[in-house]
Amino acid sequence: MHRVFSGIQPTGNLHLGNYLGATRNWVALQADFECIFCIVDMHAITVWQDPEQLRASTREVAASLIAAGVDPRRHVVFNQSQVPGHAELAWIFNCVARMGWLNRMTQFKEKAGKNKENASVGLFAYPNLMAADILLYKATHVPVGDDQKQHLELTRDIAQKFNNDFKCDIFPIVEPLILGVATRVMSLRDGTKKMSKSDPSDLSRINMIDDADTIAKKIRKAKTDPEDLPVSEEGFAGRPEARNLMSIYAALDGIEMDAVLGRFGGAQFSTFKQELADLAVAKLSPIQDEMRRLMADPGYIDGVLRDGAARARAIAAPIMAEIQDIVGFLRA
Ligand code: TYM
Repeated sequence: MHRVFSGIQPTGNLHLGNYLGATRNWVALQADFECIFCIVDMHAITVWQDPEQLRASTREVAASLIAAGVDPRRHVVFNQSQVPGHAELAWIFNCVARMGWLNRMTQFKEKAGKNKENASVGLFAYPNLMAADILLYKATHVPVGDDQKQHLELTRDIAQKFNNDFKCDIFPIVEPLILGVATRVMSLRDGTKKMSKSDPSDLSRINMIDDADTIAKKIRKAKTDPEDLPVSEEGFAGRPEARNLMSIYAALDGIEMDAVLGRFGGAQFSTFKQELADLAVAKLSPIQDEMRRLMADPGYIDGVLRDGAARARAIAAPIMAEIQDIVGFLRA
């Protein structure tokens, strides 16, 4: 059996990296897999979230998923906190994963920064919750951007250790699906840094809610170098901004990098940026219009999430019971 699971945090605005690296691939996978898409509000609170803002962001992310083409009737869309199995299994995994494994997680080091002593325990244990998200449904395939690769390796390690420790084969060894030409969209201000919600500069990212003028302005202001655009992949050496902008173009247009190099190689950045801005607006504005329409009807969004949570609980319940039996929790 094949089952897709993926998650996204409801922290602030979704950006082009989330769309090209993840959610657009989710939409494509719906035709071939049973899919479970989770808005991970419990992961969000590993760093401080204003409660009202968290609720609003949860609805906004749900709206943006549906607007991008996720079909909540055929697949499951819900927020994590509403299915208790995530927390229950995460606790079991806290007892399976080793301190040494988590100490190697680069995302914790980046997020905690120099002030490790003051990071929440949840931020440290974050990857165990992520493993629980996936394995609670025995998901087999997990579409993510490149930055989540290490967390999925840990998920595989946890599944393997649990299966070994308890001499069973309950958990599948998940396959990461890192798809497309834009698996790691970089900041528009610095081609060596990931495009991220937490970058203090709003000019560094294209948000899914930016209007056409803002998108065009951000692309116009994107960092470049003085050379013309390269004609082949080798020409990207030492030119991360050129690579980033050209791969964004390829991903948005659904074409290979070679085709972009063939079309714009040797052109000036200014000419290319204009074309890129037009393309980005053309591709994103229908999604944005739909998102605004959905956001005007929070009752509908809440209904989708409520229904999704009920279906997720129904899938998770027998698996959680099986896990409890294996661990030795008495279900009297
Ligand atoms: P999050 O919310 O940071 O990001 C959601 C998805 O977007 C991808 N992504 C990117 N892809 C390409 N370029 C970028 N600049 C970029 N930034 C973000 C991420 O790789 C991700 O696929 N821990 C996860 C959420 C999660 C999860 C899970 C994912 C929780 N449980 C279980 C898969 C399975 C996270 O923080 O994603």
